[in-house]
Amino acid sequence: MTSERTLSIIKPDAVAKNVIGEILARFERAGLRIVAAKMVHLGQQEAESFYAVHRERPFFNDLVGFMTSGPIMVQVLEGEQAIRKNREIMGETNPQEASAGSIRHDFAENIDANAVHGSDSPETAKQEIEFFFKADEICSR
Ligand code: PPS
Repeated sequence: MTSERTLSIIKPDAVAKNVIGEILARFERAGLRIVAAKMVHLGQQEAESFYAVHRERPFFNDLVGFMTSGPIMVQVLEGEQAIRKNREIMGETNPQEASAGSIRHDFAENIDANAVHGSDSPETAKQEIEFFFKADEICSR
């Protein structure tokens, strides 16, 4: 099986709760490696561009408002089936439906502020990684 990469975001609610380290530790415990990471505070245009695929959805403005409300931590995770593994560790989008022990179950309040984001396919992972990182900012073994 081949290793893949995915983009992970620790959202403003989880950064404000001071649980960055606890979330990153869960990725590492699952065998994923953090091969790039930085803290950013998205501007309005950047957030609109990152979430452009959701532009027509009713929650678009709330999502952009939330994602620009404070700093976020973005990282590239690398490992076997990194995309699927990350989404399992994250739990369902709605924290009320997330399995016990998942990040969203343990740290998120509601669907508007759900602690983490993870790419949902190889295509989006590539696009999302390129949105935040230049090739030489990713340090693979
Ligand atoms: S997913 O995980 O992409 O399949 O989920 P989806 O339901 O398509 O949601 C896409 C992103 O929108 C966020 N979201 C919301 N934000 C605010 N309010 C409501 N009601 C809402 N519903 C969904 C959801 O957290 C997803 O954000 P990301 O950052 O992609 O995980």
